[in-house]
Amino acid sequence: MTKIGLLGAGMIANIHAQAITATGGEIVAIFDPREHRRDEFAQKWNCDSCSDLAEMLSRSDIEAVVVATPNDQHAELAIAAMRACKDVLLEKPMAMSLAQCDEILHVQNETKQLLQLGFVCRFAPAALKVKQMIDEGKLGAIRHARATLLRQRGIPGLGGWFTTKEKSGGGCLIDIGVHLIDLLSHLTSACEPKRVLGVCSQTFSIESYEYDEMWSTPNPDGIFDVEDGVIATTTFANGITNQIDVSWATHLPGSYIRDGITIEGDKGAVWFDLWGDSIAFGESVDGKPAESKVEVHVNEAWDDAFQCEHRAFAMGVANRAVSDEAGTGEDGRKVQTIVEAIYDSNFQNCEVQISRS
Ligand SMILES: NC(=O)c1ccc[n+]([C@@H]2O[C@H](COP(=O)([O-])OP(=O)(O)OC[C@H]3O[C@@H](n4cnc5c(N)ncnc54)[C@H](O)[C@@H]3O)[C@@H](O)[C@H]2O)c1
Repeated sequence: MTKIGLLGAGMIANIHAQAITATGGEIVAIFDPREHRRDEFAQKWNCDSCSDLAEMLSRSDIEAVVVATPNDQHAELAIAAMRACKDVLLEKPMAMSLAQCDEILHVQNETKQLLQLGFVCRFAPAALKVKQMIDEGKLGAIRHARATLLRQRGIPGLGGWFTTKEKSGGGCLIDIGVHLIDLLSHLTSACEPKRVLGVCSQTFSIESYEYDEMWSTPNPDGIFDVEDGVIATTTFANGITNQIDVSWATHLPGSYIRDGITIEGDKGAVWFDLWGDSIAFGESVDGKPAESKVEVHVNEAWDDAFQCEHRAFAMGVANRAVSDEAGTGEDGRKVQTIVEAIYDSNFQNCEVQISRS
């Protein structure tokens, strides 16, 4: 049983707590600078409420921590935890910049603590099934992958930290785009990004957007200085291209939003809804197009994925190595490399080359 402390008592910490409990882990303590948040969390999940980070990290009854705070805290907290000999499950994005990713990796290398990234989409039941199909060779050599994720009204905490660049590092790209960048490169085994073309947009404003049930309280006097839409294509050294089309908000009628992931190989191709329970598979039979539906076992896909992520983390902690299917610090750094290149491409208004570092 992994004994876990949580840093940050917000929305996603509660999802982690649910998954930890469901997979036999133990929630030992919570730290959050906001007293009412940590106390409420401690009461709900029956754990200690800590008001002092250093004190919490020095506890010998905590083996590992989950970092579930605003993005600007990720690097500092992950580093403090590893220096205190705790293994870390670090929420996405890994950090605010490539430089911070490198600092985290440096400390991870020095301390040899386990560092798993919170790329939970890898554990969506449909994504696990597609990975299996690819590993079995059903798609052949992968050529291209694309992912579309368009929320109609889904700007998280409008005016709060998510939409304030100084605290988040960016908008929908660094928030939800990172999941898709990681997932596509994980599924297609696309390792080394070489060229990136990206365009970011901000269609909505605090005044023009009616807030609709996204988490965190909207703040009409807050800041919204990040993109709410991004389209980007990354070309990897092995020739594979990955494309994302992501938005936090769109004027598109809901019934015309077709979110999904396509992976195309030289033998077959799939389309799937990340949180769905089936995969559309196409191939050629005797030269003619043939299609079939692959069923996926799903209870509640989002919960299943978080539970699977925590099973992998517990296994990683026990085996002293990040589980095969989970995201590593290097994966987090690769995603950040692509994110920075997309922002750069948008700024320069052209495709940018990524030099090896
Ligand atoms: N994996 C996913 O699908 C997913 C989904 C949502 C959010 N996230 C990520 O999880 C993180 C948290 O998001 P959220 O939606 O829970 O945000 P949130 O605003 O609901 O909660 C963040 C909490 O962190 C606390 N906090 C701030 N500074 C802290 C510090 N130094 N130490 C400890 N706690 C601190 C805040 O008081 C707040 O309670 C973000 O990095 C976000 O990108 C991941």
